Amino acid sequence: MNTRDMSIGFFDSGLGGISVLKKAIQLMPDEDYIYFGDSANAPYGEKSKEDIVNLTLNSVKILIEKDIKAIVIACNTATAYAIDQIRSLYSDKLLIIGIEPAIKPAVFLKSHHILLLATNATLNQENLKEKIDHYKICSEIIPIGAPKLVEFIEAGVYNGNDVENYIKDILKDYLHMSNLTVVLGCTHFPFFKSSLKKILHKDAILLDGSDGTSKRLKDQLLKCSLRKDSSENGKITFLNSLKNDKIISRCFELLELDI
Ligand code: DGL
Repeated sequence: MNTRDMSIGFFDSGLGGISVLKKAIQLMPDEDYIYFGDSANAPYGEKSKEDIVNLTLNSVKILIEKDIKAIVIACNTATAYAIDQIRSLYSDKLLIIGIEPAIKPAVFLKSHHILLLATNATLNQENLKEKIDHYKICSEIIPIGAPKLVEFIEAGVYNGNDVENYIKDILKDYLHMSNLTVVLGCTHFPFFKSSLKKILHKDAILLDGSDGTSKRLKDQLLKCSLRKDSSENGKITFLNSLKNDKIISRCFELLELDI
């Protein structure tokens, strides 16, 4: 098979990376995509560094065996801890794209308050802490762990009272604050954009890394002459470590959700 006709692999600890996949499909509908979610082991955000690295490398291996031309690590937690190892193992074989919380664009907006919602593991990662420190002189970035939002998505709960009460609880000090930017630093969180908009001040800006990551993927494919370029829509395959039909139909459900 011609390399440019190969699929693009997507990996997340579970279902969250579908928020990134959705943007990639909008940008490049003719590509074929294989998404692997490790829902059997999610959430990664409450695990040790060692577990996150091992689980990520195992999952990436499953995708690499599918003969893909590129892989998107559509998980902030896995990118934070394992991207260096993934690059050193596979960068001579395929394109590797990671996702990071959209801190720089948030700082650029010059809001009075920036909240960074992410998993606890992402928030504890050294490089991220340094980044937050680096911007201290112009913006205070307030880290807030939101592990339950990951559990909600994995359980198929996308909105409703439990979700809203949890959001109100973790963001209680910021509910009516104007001039607020919220960075969604976990790929599970964009599915709660409408609940967040309902709860936060009407001017609050929500930022996530899915657009930037998808654009980077497209740019890299073009740069390496790996863009498929067909007039027909590509194929989307979902794989999950929870080997049941229910989780696969949940994947398609999330892909259809308006975010
Ligand atoms: N979706 C992942 C992220 O972007 C992590 C969720 C988890 O497994 O805790 O960080």
